[in-house]
Amino acid sequence: MSIWKTKPLSILLGEASDSEHGLKRSLSSSSLVALGVGAIIGAGLFSLTGIAAADHAGPAVTLSFILAAVGCAFAGLCYAEFASMIPVAGSAYTYSYATMGEFMAWIIGWDLVLEYALGAATVGVSWSRYLLELLGKYGIHLPAELICSPWETLKLSDGSVIEGGIINLPAIFIVALLSLMLIRGTKESASLNNFLVVLKVAVVIIFIVIGWSFIDPANYTPYIPENTGEFGKYGWSGVAAGAGTVFFAFIGFDAVSTAAQEANNPQKGMPIGILGSLVICTILYVLFAHVMTGLVPYYEFAGDAKPAATAFAKTGYDFLQTGLIVAILAGYTSVMLVMLMGQSRVFYTMSKDGLLPKFFSEIHPKFRTPWKTNVFFLLFVSIFAGFVPVSDLGHMVSIGTLLAFVLVCIGVMVMRVKMPDAPRAFKTPLVPFVPIAGVLVCLGLMYSLPNESWARLIIWMALGIVIYFTYGKKHSNLNKLEK
Ligand code: ALA
Repeated sequence: MSIWKTKPLSILLGEASDSEHGLKRSLSSSSLVALGVGAIIGAGLFSLTGIAAADHAGPAVTLSFILAAVGCAFAGLCYAEFASMIPVAGSAYTYSYATMGEFMAWIIGWDLVLEYALGAATVGVSWSRYLLELLGKYGIHLPAELICSPWETLKLSDGSVIEGGIINLPAIFIVALLSLMLIRGTKESASLNNFLVVLKVAVVIIFIVIGWSFIDPANYTPYIPENTGEFGKYGWSGVAAGAGTVFFAFIGFDAVSTAAQEANNPQKGMPIGILGSLVICTILYVLFAHVMTGLVPYYEFAGDAKPAATAFAKTGYDFLQTGLIVAILAGYTSVMLVMLMGQSRVFYTMSKDGLLPKFFSEIHPKFRTPWKTNVFFLLFVSIFAGFVPVSDLGHMVSIGTLLAFVLVCIGVMVMRVKMPDAPRAFKTPLVPFVPIAGVLVCLGLMYSLPNESWARLIIWMALGIVIYFTYGKKHSNLNKLEK
């Protein structure tokens, strides 16, 4: 069979309507927006805004957020068309299967592991940092070797420095807890997610409203600090490099599309979920970044992993600080929940197609969730969360996600040519301008990431290609159908 063979749309839609044996349809449009916001606001906003301001853009980090949002919006418009047209679990993987053929679908499904599984690991590590801060406030200190991965340097709030520990146990703890919750079911997890989203948005709004009256306008001058002579450090190149850094903060809106098969009304809910959550988050991010850099001179955020707490301290509302950290911790869990769920749904679908062993699509008889995949990723994500430094993880996630965005943008154009008349509840406007702009902006953001992430991306994809040719191609259902 040709590796470019596409999966017919009719088969895809037929599988989606088989709700009797498959996943439950329980998510409304508002739950989908909440799912998006839940996946988006997290470590990127609460940890990277300060770093992007200090190292790249200064107070103009607000512009970096807008630039990153523009790239995401182009890709989001393409995702929305696909998600409304092919409302089947599996997201970008499924879309490519229908448009660019099995091999490209495999490539993208394999690539999505970087986004979802490693994304959950990254946020897990950042979660453990805020947990230590919270415990420290109550005089509780965990043994240094159990809170830091082997190749990481960790600065604690008491000023001490850990030069490499053994394992990051708090990060593993949160990954395991959330994976076990997902096994119990999507509906229950979605209710928890709605609660966490409200809490998280409340924190961001409280930060903006209270912080606003403490802004020192002097901190905005100059708004775009002069370039230091180094590309990407202040000036307009700094704004662009800042966008590459804060891109991480937007990752997750596409996770909404992985739940298409569990949406009540996917045709309407998918575009609302994807674009709605993106717009809400962009507005909150720009305001948050504006207040943050107004409270503290941007250069003081250098190397600060908890800039939200640092900036909020300027307001003098100390008692709110602890609440802020607790809510941030809660907010991180909803990001991880959506990522872990997205990951299990992608592997579920790939396994249904025969590209991965059946193990990954076995549904729990009582909870009706792909529980074996959840257990597998509990272990896989834990290894990364426990042993890999957070910056390496974060860059891998960004580059992998950007590659997926590029392929989805290309996929929309391919689909318009191959299937111009297929029903689309939502159509990407201005094709081919929007998809082409999406490809260019995403490639530009990939370019701004470190060389090591490119090398790791190539190694991961090469491994994926070997697995495809030794397993997936032979066991693929499409391949069997042809025989
Ligand atoms: N956008 C998510 C975050 O910032 C991944 O944590």
